[in-house]
Amino acid sequence: MSKKTKPWGGRFREATNEQVERFTASLHYDRRLFRYDIDGSIAHAKMLAHQDIITQEESGAIVKGLKGILKDIEEGRFTFSDEDEDIHMAVEKALIEKIGEVGGKLHTGRSRNDQVALSVRMYAREEIRQIGAALERLKNTLAGLARAEKSTIVPSYTHLQKAQPVLLGHYFLAYWEMFHRDADRLNDCLHRVNRMPLGAAALAGTSLPIDRSFVARLLRFPQVTANSMDTVSDRDYVAEIIFVLALIMMHMSRLCEDMILWSTDEFRYLEISDAFTTGSSIMPQKKNPDVAELIRGKTGRVYGALTTILTILKGLPMTYNRDLQEDKEPLFDAIDTVKASLDILAGMLEGVTFNRDRMKAEAGLGYSTATDAAEYLVRRGVPFREAHGIIGRLVAYCIGAKRTLSEITLEEYRRFHPAFDEDIFQAISVESSVNARESAGGTAERNILKKLSEIEEI
Ligand code: ARG
Repeated sequence: MSKKTKPWGGRFREATNEQVERFTASLHYDRRLFRYDIDGSIAHAKMLAHQDIITQEESGAIVKGLKGILKDIEEGRFTFSDEDEDIHMAVEKALIEKIGEVGGKLHTGRSRNDQVALSVRMYAREEIRQIGAALERLKNTLAGLARAEKSTIVPSYTHLQKAQPVLLGHYFLAYWEMFHRDADRLNDCLHRVNRMPLGAAALAGTSLPIDRSFVARLLRFPQVTANSMDTVSDRDYVAEIIFVLALIMMHMSRLCEDMILWSTDEFRYLEISDAFTTGSSIMPQKKNPDVAELIRGKTGRVYGALTTILTILKGLPMTYNRDLQEDKEPLFDAIDTVKASLDILAGMLEGVTFNRDRMKAEAGLGYSTATDAAEYLVRRGVPFREAHGIIGRLVAYCIGAKRTLSEITLEEYRRFHPAFDEDIFQAISVESSVNARESAGGTAERNILKKLSEIEEI
């Protein structure tokens, strides 16, 4: 582009170095913002006429021209030129080409600094809505699994050592809670994203009689941003969104890790469907959980995006600096990654089949109901610490005798404490173990059903 065709060409005598043009360009990625740039400009042009800063005819011509450009882009007729620095310049240049000099009135009372902020905020709030909807779909899948597996008994783990039997429905509802918090966090950050920045201009506002609230109303922003300097340099909302996305990835990654582990030959708790697994090019017997592994792996890119944006922001002097152009690629990549992962994870989970017999059998091994035996004594007046010691010695005895808690006799139990009765065998069964845990938030099936009916009411 020659110096004359640059919007800021006036004070320059030399053309921009070509390498600099390539280095500073963002069009190849920010073109995805075209709709928001154009909608924002249409609202701005309408406001300029409403405030008599330009005439109704001028505004009408600008709006018509912009709508034509939108259509051209949507229908693939628009040719993006390498000469354009970013989407905002490309649209403005096309407008002037289309409607002539009057197109040059669009940039009245605004700058690219607030214009970029407007497009990113509009893009972000739309994506937040879409990710919210994808989270709802995943939560529904998890609630469906919880209902289907409400009485399936599975071992639970701490330190990846077998802990206590739980219901598989309870496990899925644990993930439901995580994604529910994520949806809540996303909604919360929407309040801060949803502020209208246009009119901050370069950084200090404008001397022209603009009406920022008018633009906000047209673009359905509940509020305008408060301080013009903050407005052009603020990217807190980008960091905040990426942080929420990083947590969503982390939650998906943990769920995937369990699915990977539980599908191994060593666990054999579940099988992921053929449609969501891949084979090996050399080992014919293999069926690999690549989808789950990739979600786990892609978590790294979203964490990377968070580190990127935080690092970009940390040393910036007030106010706008070109560094801020680097906010978009991490944001776009994090959003694309989370959307793709949420969608495919829901699909993968729907095709998982569970090996219920094996999970139940495993849940009973490893003295997993020892706590139930201790609580049995507690109910008979034995202090918990003492009961813990008694059952600990009993478990050691069983290990020595190579028998489980249900394979020793009542007489043997009584050797450890006289309070044991015939009903101890019932108390240490995996079924009573899970269903006895009726404390608020505990694994009992009654709690699962209660939670599921609450979920259905939301
Ligand atoms: N593409 C740039 C960005 O995303 C546009 C802003 C340029 N503003 C400026 N004063 N050079 O930040």
